Amino acid sequence: MAAKNKQKKIGILTAGGDSPGLNAAIRGFGKTAAGHYHMELVGFRDGITGLVENRFEALDGRALSGILTVGGTILGTSRDKVHKFPTADGPVDMVPQVVQNYEKDGLDAIIMLGGGGTAKNAMRLVDAGLNVIHLPKTIDNDIAETDTTFGFATAMEVATDALDRVHSTAHSHHRIILTEIMGHRAGWLTLGAGIAGGADIILIPEIPYTVNSVAATIRERTKRGSTFSVVAVAEGARDVDDMADYEAARLLVKAAKTPEQQRAARAHLRNVTDTQREHSFKLARELEAATGLEARVTILGYVQRGGSPAAADRVLATRLGAAAADLVAQGHFGVMVAAKGDEAVPVPLEDVAGKTKLVPPDHAWIAAARKVGTGLGD
Ligand code: F6P
Repeated sequence: MAAKNKQKKIGILTAGGDSPGLNAAIRGFGKTAAGHYHMELVGFRDGITGLVENRFEALDGRALSGILTVGGTILGTSRDKVHKFPTADGPVDMVPQVVQNYEKDGLDAIIMLGGGGTAKNAMRLVDAGLNVIHLPKTIDNDIAETDTTFGFATAMEVATDALDRVHSTAHSHHRIILTEIMGHRAGWLTLGAGIAGGADIILIPEIPYTVNSVAATIRERTKRGSTFSVVAVAEGARDVDDMADYEAARLLVKAAKTPEQQRAARAHLRNVTDTQREHSFKLARELEAATGLEARVTILGYVQRGGSPAAADRVLATRLGAAAADLVAQGHFGVMVAAKGDEAVPVPLEDVAGKTKLVPPDHAWIAAARKVGTGLGD
């Protein structure tokens, strides 16, 4: 590894789904590392892919300038896994290749910006002896041990704006509008936007719903004179039966021992997931039948991840990026830089990798939603 008194050379990459604030974090880290600590910075292209293929470029002051407000990532990204890297001969463990590249390039550390999958990749590289720091990025806000993640605040603004807008059509046409919001298996984005956008019903994965309960809330509203309803529905939300099928399929995958059992269990889980993919449309049909109102579905999709980061994400990404550079200077590795109140705190990666932060059923946001009369579908 690199000699002690030489200028430190640091690699940085962005991995997983793109998210507002990635460039702000690259800039926050880069300006602190280069400007304050006089380190050399290189950016790996396309996440883990660039790290495996050793594709990188120098990130100098000019490259870091003017990117604070820019959406996406100037480095590109991918969802590749380092231990199952796709090749023509099937998935290959590329950890040894990355270690070799790291040594050949004379790197002193790698900064990995990403979500849950990236935390696991980062852990694999730490286990192989590399100096790694992870920064928590995702619109889903589902990373353990951090108050929040950059990307979440912006996506919540976008989804809230969408809910504000669909209210127009809902009340003008006396319709139920289901607005499907991202979040993977976590309900943070739907819950936050649902509260902020005044959704009448909020459906999240952590609280499986029944159609009866959702329909009852809508009928109650009709009785009180509201002839429309706006439903914020998480992409991972399911009715009680579908959620039970999904959980059972996941358990089968976990319990599978032989490669054959694993293949069969994974194929079954894929099947269940595919069958449930159109769940918002299914719910819309069920609600039409149960309430007599017309129902429509709006899937927000990638607009939630796109565009310029909100001010809150710019601040968060900048302070976590700057804190990561401080940690490199101190030689503190194998951690994620977590947001805890106003502090940026290093948390051991083993406390983060493989964990998911779901909405606790007794969370204050849920309590507040219930108190203002929002239906949660249970
Ligand atoms: O993790 C971020 C996220 O946007 C999730 O909310 C969503 O489930 C997923 O990525 C979609 O990812 P993609 O289609 O880019 O693979």
